[in-house]
Amino acid sequence: MKKIILAAAAVLALSPAVRAAEVGPELMQVPWSFDGAFGKFDRLQLQRGLQVYREVCASCHSLNYVAFRNLSDLGYSEGQIKAIANEYEYPEIDDEGSDTTRKGKPSDYFPNPYPNEKFARASNNGALPPDLSLVTKSRHRDGPNYIYSLLLGYEDPPAGMEVLEGMSYNKFFSSGSFQIAMVKQIEPDKVTYADGTAATQEQIAQDITAFLHWAAEPKLEARHGAGLRVMLYTLIFTVLAYLLKKRIWARLDQK
Ligand code: HEC
Repeated sequence: MKKIILAAAAVLALSPAVRAAEVGPELMQVPWSFDGAFGKFDRLQLQRGLQVYREVCASCHSLNYVAFRNLSDLGYSEGQIKAIANEYEYPEIDDEGSDTTRKGKPSDYFPNPYPNEKFARASNNGALPPDLSLVTKSRHRDGPNYIYSLLLGYEDPPAGMEVLEGMSYNKFFSSGSFQIAMVKQIEPDKVTYADGTAATQEQIAQDITAFLHWAAEPKLEARHGAGLRVMLYTLIFTVLAYLLKKRIWARLDQK
């Protein structure tokens, strides 16, 4: 019985941070609110992250899988979502067949910063800024800690390393060359938070990363809840099975 409880505890303790690390410099570790079996998103943090995405990242990176109406997860009302959507413009053809634009609606998705890939590459020294919707899940090991580390991983290159034109040295960039075609994006006070939070670079990097993790896994809280219920059920069932076994054997022993 002890063994069973120990095994169950071990499963519960297995948070993403415990998973095996890969090669490369040790990533910075953030105690995310969404880590572990009981993890939940921090709504205000997600709202700050949205602000960072809109004010800093959206000029180069698309967020193709997030519609404005999904922002209700962040605690926004229908009216607020409508107002956010209204700030964007979308191409449309009018009744006469001419090109025009219309205001965004809650059912629209965040617009693409570039009309196509060629345009995006031409504006970024040949590199393509990836869509950020799934980036905390699609990138390697320990997604959120990787994104956080990458955003803050800019520093002077080691002596003797030549950094190519238009590239920046970043000790966490996973390509192996440590040279990335995105210049450092996050500086202290790069944004002025609507909720008054002090905008240190660590705060900004955490907020945008948490927001991107929500974008990649909006159902994380429901999944955690379901996982816990399954675990609890299994535990109770195991105890019942054990007691039943004891009872049956006790009766057999008496004979
Ligand atoms: C001026 C344009 C520009 C802005 C603004 C920008 N990026 Fe980038 N980003 C790029 C480019 C270009 C790349 C591709 C880099 C490469 O492949 O070398 C990139 C790559 C990335 C990657 C992928 C890294 C990897 O391991 O492949 C992430 C994550 C990322 N950006 C996050 C962000 C976030 C978060 C913001 C806002 C805080 C942001 N970017 C703002 C241009 C930009």
